[in-house]
Amino acid sequence: MALWGGRFEGGVATSTQEFGASLPVDKHLYKQDIAGSKAHAGMLAKQGIISDSDAQAIAEGLDQIEAQIDAGDFVFDINDEDIHMAIESELTRRIGEAGKRLHTGRSRNDQVATDTRLAVKALTKDLMEANLNLRHVLVEAAEANKKAILPGMTHLQHAQPVLFSHHLLAYYWMFTRDYKRIVAAFEAADASPLGAAALAGTTYPLDRVASAHAMGFKQIIPNSLDAVSDRDFLLDLHFACSTMAMHLSRLAEEIVLWSSSEFGFITLSDSFSTGSSIMPQKKNPDFAELIRGKTGRVYGNLVQLLVTCKGLPLAYNKDLQEDKEGALDSAHTLAQCLSVMSGMISTMTVNADAMRAACKVGHLAATDVADYLAKRGMPFREAHAVVGHLVLECDKRGCQLDDLPLEVFKEASPLFGADITSALDIDAIVAARTTQGGTAPTAVAEQMRLVRASYTAD
Ligand code: ARG
Repeated sequence: MALWGGRFEGGVATSTQEFGASLPVDKHLYKQDIAGSKAHAGMLAKQGIISDSDAQAIAEGLDQIEAQIDAGDFVFDINDEDIHMAIESELTRRIGEAGKRLHTGRSRNDQVATDTRLAVKALTKDLMEANLNLRHVLVEAAEANKKAILPGMTHLQHAQPVLFSHHLLAYYWMFTRDYKRIVAAFEAADASPLGAAALAGTTYPLDRVASAHAMGFKQIIPNSLDAVSDRDFLLDLHFACSTMAMHLSRLAEEIVLWSSSEFGFITLSDSFSTGSSIMPQKKNPDFAELIRGKTGRVYGNLVQLLVTCKGLPLAYNKDLQEDKEGALDSAHTLAQCLSVMSGMISTMTVNADAMRAACKVGHLAATDVADYLAKRGMPFREAHAVVGHLVLECDKRGCQLDDLPLEVFKEASPLFGADITSALDIDAIVAARTTQGGTAPTAVAEQMRLVRASYTAD
């Protein structure tokens, strides 16, 4: 009989047992459930609600169960419905009477919210570490490839040359913002619902702050109804994961492009590539594609929880049981993606020559040639048109701006002189972008100082 079976004359239909059970998902929260129960029992004893010996028997019994689950020797029974009842039933089988006192002043409603919050605290810690590791790898790659210049793109068309290190650091900042979002999800989870009981609090003289601190929570949730029905902390986790997945996906897409024959900017290491079962020549960026692909499922999990919570009346509703699977999935997915991305970046070969060769096409110097004229007095809009015509001329001749003879420049505008070559030189073009946050090596060195400071701060 289920632990709640007292008021029932008949058992539930077998077809609903599996349907109603959350055990396949929440069994992964056994450590959190046991930690929560130990804190609850310890607090009950301190408050004189149960005896010290009962609390001790409960703690010892729970430790044994934890060791058994750790060892993979615990047989879960779907009839127990969820991890809370699976552990409590086993505890009572082991220690008898005392086990039946554990649930005093507690409901599965505050219990599950507590377990889930503890799990989010652990998962977000793992994500912070994995995020920091990827950021470290990006900084290392930026440092190791200081000289490489690639065509910066807008609309995926050659735009202006940029330092490859600058490009990588753009991702560093995205992941730095993601880190803050993960920290925010951790903080949102860091409040204890335990003691809210089913929804209204309880008649026992619980010390909620004591059990909260015993579990490592910073504070307690001040409203019992909110405590059992709030899942915002999971939405924060989902949003942090979704945004981070989106950043990973953008980077993954660039890796797919860069490793193609058309670009050839990077070569992925064999350990982060796969072959084809039919085409012997293939070396595919599968893992970058998979990271890009995983993003969809992470977004899906976010939307699923938003929809699940929409319109739910206070307080606990069984719909909320659908909250854990997606959250655990997104956190695990992100942890894997971060680690695979770190491995992929740290082992790839950067083909600086191919990047530089690509800078020769697409008239990357056009803006600088227009600036050359503007700096010599021509209104920029006019200069823009003059260079536009020069580009047209290049297209007709099938050449690049720096292939045009000086006379052609001079015909286009008398302001052009022999020093136009400086406006056409890729290194000079990059070096001239000294704006704070710009791509000049000096500006990037300055940015690197900010990068290092932000990395140490996290
Ligand atoms: N398995 C449930 C969940 O995951 C635990 C809480 C159930 N409470 C209840 N009254 N049915 O949400």
